Amino acid sequence: MRVVLGVAGGIAAYKVCALLRLLTEGGHDVTVVPTAAALKFVGAPTWAALSGKPVHTEVWSDITEVPHVRLGQQADLVIVAPATADLLARAATGQADDLLTNVLLTARCPVVMAPAMHTEMWEHPATQANVATLSERGVHIVPPASGRLTGADTGPGRLPEPEDLYAVCVRELGRAARAGAAPHGIPDPAVTTALTGRRVVVSAGGTREPLDPVRYLGNRSSGKQGYALAAVAARLGAEVTLVSSATLAAPEGVRVVPVETALEMRTVMLAEAAGADVVVMAAAVADFRPANYTEHKIKKSHEGAGDDSAPVVELVRNPDILAELVRTRRDTERPVIVGFAAETGDASGGVLDLGRAKLARKGCDLLVVNEVGPDKTFGREDNTVHILRRGTDDVIDVGPASKSVVAEEIWAAVAHVLARG
Ligand code: C5P
Repeated sequence: MRVVLGVAGGIAAYKVCALLRLLTEGGHDVTVVPTAAALKFVGAPTWAALSGKPVHTEVWSDITEVPHVRLGQQADLVIVAPATADLLARAATGQADDLLTNVLLTARCPVVMAPAMHTEMWEHPATQANVATLSERGVHIVPPASGRLTGADTGPGRLPEPEDLYAVCVRELGRAARAGAAPHGIPDPAVTTALTGRRVVVSAGGTREPLDPVRYLGNRSSGKQGYALAAVAARLGAEVTLVSSATLAAPEGVRVVPVETALEMRTVMLAEAAGADVVVMAAAVADFRPANYTEHKIKKSHEGAGDDSAPVVELVRNPDILAELVRTRRDTERPVIVGFAAETGDASGGVLDLGRAKLARKGCDLLVVNEVGPDKTFGREDNTVHILRRGTDDVIDVGPASKSVVAEEIWAAVAHVLARG
């Protein structure tokens, strides 16, 4: 496979020599495109010797071969490591002031970026906004590791180890090959056709179950995966309704119906699903709600009266919206229903076993099994999922990848189900 290895000007460039070695030993044809600043850390002779190819930073070399267009167009994968704050800013704003940024504009293959910089630069809102923009466009961002930085200080900002970056490259190349080299941000034509003009309903966010006028029971779901699903479906020409208990900005071209509780979400989802072609339950619906809502704020205690007892909150079960959507659908084919399952795996089985059991129990057409854990899924920009399909043993493994890329894979799986009926 043809890989372009972009290197920006950060000290972590020295670790990327080992990544280059792994890629070439893996049989890949690698062209290294450093920025001018990267050459201050590792010189062109090192990159040229390890890749076996000439190394250029500007668009003016080998001009008859138009490298700024050809390199990007012909690549199967572009990985930028380290992606510095400056490189992320230039890529996010579509600048084309050196060879690497030109390659990023002409590439139609998966693009992976591994940011590495000092913690303050990584956490700056400008950098975070640029990362969010790139991720939204389908760039696979590999989050920086936490640990020792250039000097004595530590924190998030370290470039992940070359072996880990190599594993991401291999996964992305495999994913692109399976999807027929669907380019990042530009959908597979089969998927585009499948969703054009379809009515799609997506639920997103964690429901809030009020206890009194100021308190509620909630969960850690940010709603980002549901919003990415809605955004991608709208981009693919679907008529999208997003039933949301999250407070994120509405994606372009999407009708948002705000809800707060599981009961509100149930009412809206049952009504919206009636005429829909596809329903995706990405929301984290609370399984329980307080049995009683107290009109006035619950007092801490009868302070001063020596009573420091705490109230006991009684809970009741919420309806299972997904199961009800399956039970009440207008026929066995429509709408296609997609459920989500956040699993950690336990003594009774791994995430896939638990997912298969849940798919059978809920009766939906596809189940997206989310791996959850201390640094996985909730609130993050990336996600790791396994897509299961009813009646088959198929498993589509996705990620870690941006929530937009995960959304594209989920819609590709939905397209296959739609094509069947
Ligand atoms: O059973 P569990 O909560 O793990 O199932 C998750 C799936 O079921 C998600 O698709 C979620 O949106 C949906 N769900 C639901 N109503 C509930 C609980 C979960 O629709 N009360």
